Amino acid sequence: MGDRNFRSILTGSFSTPCADNPTVAMVEAAYRHAGLDARYINCDVKAEHLAQAVAGAVAMEWVGFNCSLPHKVAVIEYLDEVADSARIIGAVNCVSIRDGRLVGDNTDGKGFLASLKGVTDPSGRKVVVLGAGGAARAIAVELGLAGAAHLTIVNRDVARAENVAALVRDNTPCAAEAMAWTGPVAVPEGADILINATSIGLGDGNALPPVNLDTLRSGLVVADVIPNPPMTHLLRTAKARGCTVLDGLGMLVNQGVIGVELWLGKKLDAGVMQRTLQEIFEVPA
Ligand SMILES: NC(=O)c1ccc[n+]([C@@H]2O[C@H](COP(=O)([O-])OP(=O)(O)OC[C@H]3O[C@@H](n4cnc5c(N)ncnc54)[C@H](OP(=O)(O)O)[C@@H]3O)[C@@H](O)[C@H]2O)c1
Repeated sequence: MGDRNFRSILTGSFSTPCADNPTVAMVEAAYRHAGLDARYINCDVKAEHLAQAVAGAVAMEWVGFNCSLPHKVAVIEYLDEVADSARIIGAVNCVSIRDGRLVGDNTDGKGFLASLKGVTDPSGRKVVVLGAGGAARAIAVELGLAGAAHLTIVNRDVARAENVAALVRDNTPCAAEAMAWTGPVAVPEGADILINATSIGLGDGNALPPVNLDTLRSGLVVADVIPNPPMTHLLRTAKARGCTVLDGLGMLVNQGVIGVELWLGKKLDAGVMQRTLQEIFEVPA
């Protein structure tokens, strides 16, 4: 009886609404696979209760938690330390609790980068990023820090695109420019990577961001942040045109792997996470 331990390691997520976030299923499947007595609790935390939720996690000795909408910026005021890239991005989606100290990271861009590195090294590359929201911002900063040579940020609201481009120019050695999205975007001849970092395609396999499809050449890497459905219209078209494609499921999986590594110092099985999400999203094998 003496060496039995009924106390689980506690991790989780604070967001609202949270019911459609599948991260809990993905992470807990990987915890079980690793034989870890750890839990990931998906908590619906309203904006006005964030301070209490953070204090609760500390009081209950959680080892860490993810933050999603609407807490990614608001959580920063409760942290003792913020990692460099998260500070540049201005948003935290992963908090580690070590000896009562709270350390914030941003795994959005890091998860994308880990996925991208599976098909190409972004160092020295020219990249076109569609969108200038939270995902685009995180991806652009990580690409800049990873040594990308040039970013073109394309957005309907060009002021938002300029804001992201300036962030990259001011904080990384990468050149960056903004472009207004007024019609189908032509991917420039010299570009190596095209990334859809907008919400176009989320839950809609027919939606297509306005891109001049004739400019999707063989040799171009085309990536999408959309996790569901993973094979978006953009990726299907790009694949048919001979491009290397990368879906948003890998970004989500890698975020889980990176987050748990920050919390527990253990690398979970990405394949288990990937298969769990594929089952949930009913992706054909
Ligand atoms: N796979 C993953 O792990 C992962 C992680 C994070 C996010 N995501 C996905 O990334 C997507 C974006 O998230 P976010 O947090 O960046 O959202 P966000 O901050 O709301 O930004 C949305 C972006 O999409 C653009 N956009 C939306 N509808 C558009 C349209 N019809 N035409 C042109 N541009 C359009 C917006 O342009 P304007 O500024 O002009 O409005 C903005 O740049 C979401 O679908 C989310 O699911 C995936």
